[in-house]
Amino acid sequence: MVNLLKLLRLIFMRKKVSTNIDLEAVKKERVTVPNAIGNSSPKGGIGKTTIQLESGVQLVLRGREVVFIDWDIMSPRLSLRLLKELKEGPSLVKVLIGMMDITEAVRDTVISGRRGSVTVHLVPAVTEDDVPDNINRLLEEMNETSKVIKIVNKMKGSVEKLAKEYDVVFNDYPVPSWATYYTYQHLLSTTSSWINLLSDSNPNMVQLIAQLHQRYTKNIPVLGTIINMVRPTPEEFNKAKEYALELCKEVNGRVAMAIPFDGKLYDVFAESLASPASLNYPQSPAPRSP
Ligand SMILES: Nc1ncnc2c1ncn2[C@@H]1O[C@H](COP(=O)(O)OP(=O)(O)OP(=O)(O)O)[C@@H](O)[C@H]1O
Ligand SMILES: [Mg+2]
Repeated sequence: MVNLLKLLRLIFMRKKVSTNIDLEAVKKERVTVPNAIGNSSPKGGIGKTTIQLESGVQLVLRGREVVFIDWDIMSPRLSLRLLKELKEGPSLVKVLIGMMDITEAVRDTVISGRRGSVTVHLVPAVTEDDVPDNINRLLEEMNETSKVIKIVNKMKGSVEKLAKEYDVVFNDYPVPSWATYYTYQHLLSTTSSWINLLSDSNPNMVQLIAQLHQRYTKNIPVLGTIINMVRPTPEEFNKAKEYALELCKEVNGRVAMAIPFDGKLYDVFAESLASPASLNYPQSPAPRSP
């Protein structure tokens, strides 16, 4: 009979998690450009895509050229928000499997709101014509560690190329699954020069994020620590600001932010996905009533 206690002790007392990916090597592999920003959180639906899109549009409104890479092949929400439909054509999937260069996969798209229109550039994650063959090919390649490393390193070069052409590259990563954490961290560590760490107002989540950063991504400088979807009461907001600041100090970040839950940031309209709130907010804050 297997000694269950011994087995459990073996699993939980192991000091080092074994992995096929050499994390020390990863540290040396980060993109050499300074303008590739990724948003990261172990929690899904926390606002990674929304905050990147709003940040990007704010920069475009100030005259910068930004390009988004939608890495979320299973749920290409950013691509859908910007392009509305994804029937065929260039996609990140085609870049990943070597069918095209990333510079050929960038699409220009005009988005409009009450404040006018802006042009943003996007590498869409996936199109309908990638299913099933290209997706199958990609999944097969991602099953082999040596190929994963090759693909990730190729993408490092791709991001560097775009970063030289545009003011800012925004990497919109998917939420990582614990089961594929190494691949995710490898990708993130290699393709971003800065990361934003996002959390909700749960102190356990904030702590987990600090630990994950310490363990896997400490080679990447942290731009912002962001607590999103905060209940808009003074008490909750003050708590969230404290969490953001504490996390910021712990990971040596540049800015700490708390963002309230705000219906204008919600991306779903009855008929389609909404255009960014930055294009719809009034230009200057409305005067407050006394
Ligand atoms: N501060 C906010 N106030 C209100 N709604 C928000 C806020 N931030 C994000 N949302 C909404 O929450 C939902 C999830 O946000 P989003 O898709 O940006 O999260 P995500 O972290 O990118 O998710 P995923 O893990 O699926 O990639 C969207 O409907 C978005 O519009
Ligand atoms: Mg997202």
